Amino acid sequence: MLRRLTARTQLTAAVFLVLICFTLINVRLTGQPFMRSAPQLLSDPFLQLPGETSVRVVWFTEFAGSEHRVVYGQNLSQTAVANTTKLSRTREDQDSQVGQTDQVYKPTMRDIWRHEAEVTGLTPSTRVPYRVTSVREDEETVSSAEFTLAPKPPLNTPLKILLTSDHQLKPMTATNLQKVAEIGRVDAVFFVGDFVNVPDRASEWFDDNRGGALFPCLQGRASYELDKNGVKTNYTGGELIQHAPLFTAIGNHEVMGRFSRSGSLNEEFDDAIPRALSEQDERLNLSNAANRGERLKDNSFNTDTYLEIFTLPESSQGGKTYYAVTFGDVRLVVLYATNIWRYINVDAGVRGKYQESQLHNPDEWGYGQHIFEAIAKGSPQYNWLEQELNSPEFQQAKYKVVMLHHPPHSLGGNIVPPYTDPVQVIDRDGDGNIKAVRYEYPKGSDYIVRDVVPLLVAADVQLVFYGHSHLWNRFVSPSGMHFLETSNVGNSYGAAIGEEKREVPTGYEKDYIATGDPNGLEPVVPTIAPLLRDGKPLPYIASNDITVFSILDTATGTVSSYRFDTREPESEVVKFDEFKLK
Ligand SMILES: [Fe+2]
Repeated sequence: MLRRLTARTQLTAAVFLVLICFTLINVRLTGQPFMRSAPQLLSDPFLQLPGETSVRVVWFTEFAGSEHRVVYGQNLSQTAVANTTKLSRTREDQDSQVGQTDQVYKPTMRDIWRHEAEVTGLTPSTRVPYRVTSVREDEETVSSAEFTLAPKPPLNTPLKILLTSDHQLKPMTATNLQKVAEIGRVDAVFFVGDFVNVPDRASEWFDDNRGGALFPCLQGRASYELDKNGVKTNYTGGELIQHAPLFTAIGNHEVMGRFSRSGSLNEEFDDAIPRALSEQDERLNLSNAANRGERLKDNSFNTDTYLEIFTLPESSQGGKTYYAVTFGDVRLVVLYATNIWRYINVDAGVRGKYQESQLHNPDEWGYGQHIFEAIAKGSPQYNWLEQELNSPEFQQAKYKVVMLHHPPHSLGGNIVPPYTDPVQVIDRDGDGNIKAVRYEYPKGSDYIVRDVVPLLVAADVQLVFYGHSHLWNRFVSPSGMHFLETSNVGNSYGAAIGEEKREVPTGYEKDYIATGDPNGLEPVVPTIAPLLRDGKPLPYIASNDITVFSILDTATGTVSSYRFDTREPESEVVKFDEFKLK
């Protein structure tokens, strides 16, 4: 008996040893503990930057490969050859949920190649089939399924445009996009920021093993199991961006902090400081450095992964970070308006909105909720916006839409404190020792409210679209300009209204408003089927059970919002609000 047991134990140990060796050899051979054994395409293709007779097709692989191309048109008889680049900052770390990450103890580069082909010679208003193929090193050809593409729609084309944001691998995101696809094909997706949580963590974009990564959700390839009171439903997301171009804005979750100064990607994400501070830091010796630009980014913050993933329209001043584009009857103006998100309470080691915790170590200060790109009056972005609003392309457009990540009007928590440069106040005792490092945000200096919104009103913008607070609510200015936040996609962080209050520091109640819209507008009650509380209609949706999406229909000039209750998987999507653009 004992001998048999020992033999069995030996056999188990031997099998275990072989398995470990196999894994180690596999990691060694591929150099990638994250790589799957038989690599397919890492994403389906998606559409970018449509022109009058062209459109770009982009996809990703985990192999360098060769002969990356798009076949398209009738019988897929035409070919467009792709240009291949490698993502420069995508990594995995101990917090990644992918592959063999139990073997990863610190941020480790992950090799990902991006392929982009420009498909040309298209006929306006004509949609044609396409497919992408890549050839692996072992000469096996890997192809996508067949999808459809089209160039930019001409004027007077009726379009349905999905307005979305704040996916961040949140629980209801796959459900949300699946319901969008079930309602019907969309012609474009306007995505106002916060795609993932940590932008340099590759798996959040491509293959997080919980099933809800960004691209799978937007491409109908997700597999996210939603558990509502013990009822489990698997959602796939929606096949959207294979057919419809994606226009995007930068949110705070697209910005990565100082490179490799800390032990995890989460910490690196949090470790952004204002660019100007790095510029002035003599220890960095930047004045004559040949690679000054790169070093400045590595020592402050960067949006490189976002910029490497997306091909977008560009402005001469802001490149892809802020731009304007005409798509059918819509002139879309995209702003770079986001600041770093910091905690309200300051536990040891935490960088706060209102104060620092590590008083005597300025290298660990977070400098409050500093703004990544200036937008105040007189800044390059403001000047560009002013110029854009005066351009014939903007003024002649039927629909004038502006999107920016940070909310001008909201019941959400993230609209407080005001959107302005933090004013640092250092309190000292009689001996000059630091007692507190605080940050103040004067309400009268909110750049979006003070500088940007009046410009938009004067230019007759019809719709201002934003995200960031993870709820649905909307507002109308006295001039008839609509404000919409439709970011209750994957989850919510609540609405500050009635008894529900934002947490604000004492002594600052005038600048930091605890309930309602701090900028003075009343939320509009949904016009069709508002949710009720105690029999009264609620002017918002902030729910972790009900997911919301909105669609701009240019045939009618209406924006319709839909809700789906994930607690009732068999229930119908409910159109609960609709408004017409002025
Ligand atoms: Fe955000």
